[in-house]
Amino acid sequence: MRFVMPFLAPAPRLFKTVVAFAFLGIVSGALAADDILFERESPYVPSPQDVVDRMIDLADIKPGDYLIDLGSGDGRIVITAAKRGARGLGVDIDPRRIQESHANAAAAGMSHRVVFEQKDLFDTDIGKADVVTTYLLPLVNLDLRPRLLEQMRPGARLITHAFHMGEWLPDTTDIIRGRVLYAYVIPAKAAGRWKVENEDINFFLDIDQSYQTFRAAAHIEKRTLPTSIDAHTTQIRDGRLNGTEISFAVDLGAGPRVFRGRVDNNTIHGISPRGWKAIRQ
Ligand SMILES: C[S@@+](CC[C@H](N)C(=O)[O-])C[C@H]1O[C@@H](n2cnc3c(N)ncnc32)[C@H](O)[C@@H]1O
Repeated sequence: MRFVMPFLAPAPRLFKTVVAFAFLGIVSGALAADDILFERESPYVPSPQDVVDRMIDLADIKPGDYLIDLGSGDGRIVITAAKRGARGLGVDIDPRRIQESHANAAAAGMSHRVVFEQKDLFDTDIGKADVVTTYLLPLVNLDLRPRLLEQMRPGARLITHAFHMGEWLPDTTDIIRGRVLYAYVIPAKAAGRWKVENEDINFFLDIDQSYQTFRAAAHIEKRTLPTSIDAHTTQIRDGRLNGTEISFAVDLGAGPRVFRGRVDNNTIHGISPRGWKAIRQ
């Protein structure tokens, strides 16, 4: 059975029920993903507790971390994180969910570590989160994507249940009883021109970033010592960001080398080879 857009308008309640079933996994994952492609109102369907536990494992929650669940339902993700020593914020548009969350936090003895607010997740400041979790429909995830990338700090983690972030590919996926979890690390912003200084050679790097991967052209200047290298431009390989960590391979004229460093706003501090650095131009 397949629902198409014209069917949705006269029967929204039935459609929402179908969507809820899809969340519950009662219909096949493929059908679910197909049918809810155009829906923006995420219904309330709680993540089972074993799925929540796996999400918290994937998030690598440490004591003191701050987790935000966007569309937090009865608060179970936030409360589970709190039991592992995190602080948490849950936001949900539905006041009944907030009431349930307060009661559940009190029953778990975690009220001192968690806050629940009734509000739209799109009005939520996520800039201080070490971890954000979502179990929201695909279009909502896509609407959220630029905010997550813009507001969260590089190195912070995002865990989504069932629905991914489109062309932003996950760093890790996991599956538990047929439910797919996606884990992302927020990449540093590395796009643009950098001047790279290394002990034996300087070059410009023009980075074209796509989420946690990038392509780049390296423009190498003419050099005569210790070996002679003509000015040339070459493409880097394996450009990758893991939070603030950047790595790429480049042949500067004397064989391929791998550069690793840490992006800190407008500077890249080299890790290997030792002593290289790059300044944003
Ligand atoms: C599928 S449930 C997930 C609940 C919880 N995160 C979990 O995994 O158990 C989605 C929740 O998002 C809430 N929600 C939907 N749209 C929202 C919005 N715009 N702002 C805040 N909450 C929203 C719903 O009320 C619902 O509780």
